[in-house]
Amino acid sequence: MQPTPIPLADVDLTNLDYFVHNEAWGMFETLRNEDPLHWQDELHSDGHGFWSVVQYDDIEMVDKDSDTFTSTKFTNLEEPPEEFQDLRRSILESDGTRHQALRKLLARDFSVAQLRRYEDFLRGLARTSIDLALEKEDVDFVEAIAADFPINVLARLLDVPDEMTPTLIEWGNTIVGFSDPELSKVLVDSDEAQKYKHLPFRNPVSLEVFEYGRELAKQRRGGDGDDLVSKLVNRLPEDGIPLSDTDFDNYFLLLVVAGNETTRQAMTLSMKALMDNPDQMQYFLDNMDKSQSMVEELIRYASPVYHFRRTATRDVELHGKTVKAGDKIVTWFAAGNRDPQKFDNPYDLDLTRFPNDHMTFGKGPHTCLGANLARLEIRILFEELLPRLASIEQTGEIERVRSNFVNGVKRFPVRIKAK
Ligand code: HEM
Repeated sequence: MQPTPIPLADVDLTNLDYFVHNEAWGMFETLRNEDPLHWQDELHSDGHGFWSVVQYDDIEMVDKDSDTFTSTKFTNLEEPPEEFQDLRRSILESDGTRHQALRKLLARDFSVAQLRRYEDFLRGLARTSIDLALEKEDVDFVEAIAADFPINVLARLLDVPDEMTPTLIEWGNTIVGFSDPELSKVLVDSDEAQKYKHLPFRNPVSLEVFEYGRELAKQRRGGDGDDLVSKLVNRLPEDGIPLSDTDFDNYFLLLVVAGNETTRQAMTLSMKALMDNPDQMQYFLDNMDKSQSMVEELIRYASPVYHFRRTATRDVELHGKTVKAGDKIVTWFAAGNRDPQKFDNPYDLDLTRFPNDHMTFGKGPHTCLGANLARLEIRILFEELLPRLASIEQTGEIERVRSNFVNGVKRFPVRIKAK
């Protein structure tokens, strides 16, 4: 549905009330039409303010030009103090050859060919969650169906015991939900978080993740394990610089948090979109052989990540304004996915959409490393779930994550009946 535009004077991309009520789309709409390079003060945090780009072409331009728009000054709105930046740096906050080397370290493990071997495992997992949910009928879709899936795959990739999955879920929720008081005890903008400026997302839970990762690394260093931890500790990056302990900590933490919440949200938001568009749900069922391309539309429509950010390395003129060297600039991928210059009727879920060059996973050198895995998980879930359903209806309000970073759903109550 086309959102109601929010007047320019009321646009505040740091006001999380808009996001928790799913009203950010109205701000993106206004900005795209009236102020495509928009300055935003940061009234609720110690940030210096940021520029926003909301048109597809601008987002792509910024995301692809890492010489002009660097990731090395960090990629969330938060500005970690200079002295802690190296300690907190992961692949996400690197550029150039080091970034490429860190990426290549695991790129082949996330290739379509490698991931194919998880397909049977994923189908089994989907069937188990679906069977359990169908026994109960009244469930929270997020908890009963979407949450289990990504975390179990990750546990398999990292080769950690099943008992660890609830802990992994909680770590991910806490760290990615850094601005939601229900999810995170230490909110990123709080006074208490000042003590944790040296940790990812200023969150003390990161220490638990590091400790667990280091223990796994110790056990697996020098071995011949096939899991991602073994690969991180035993492979040499192609630039010849071994992974430092800090590099390992941050890579491990990113793997734990990057894929869970996002994929879970993609599944939940896709289910909601299909329920709101029963003709599309039927189309999916009738055209299972096209599931790969239909999933691209679900992923575009869901847009589980609102933004990432970059920092200008030189002055840049855009839309008659100057982004100064050192300024933060935010790429709102979710807004790009609704740009009518790129997508006809962008607010319609159209499973026949082709081409579908969405930017849910980014567009430049940092394009999501786990994109193929996320695609596979989402495809298998819907291939397994939809044919089993006689009906699915929403039974209560959706509760959203209080965040302008992830477009997340905490609870989605549904009643499902088996065929
Ligand atoms: C639907 C689910 C997912 C979404 C929407 C998503 C989205 C994103 C986005 C927007 C970026 C940054 C792109 C940019 O700055 O240009 C990113 C990076 C990344 N993602 Fe994902 N992601 C998802 C699933 C996953 C999964 C399953 C994993 C792995 C287990 C993963 C691992 C990563 C990593 C390691 C990076 C950093 C890549 C780099 O800096 O080169 N993501 N993701």
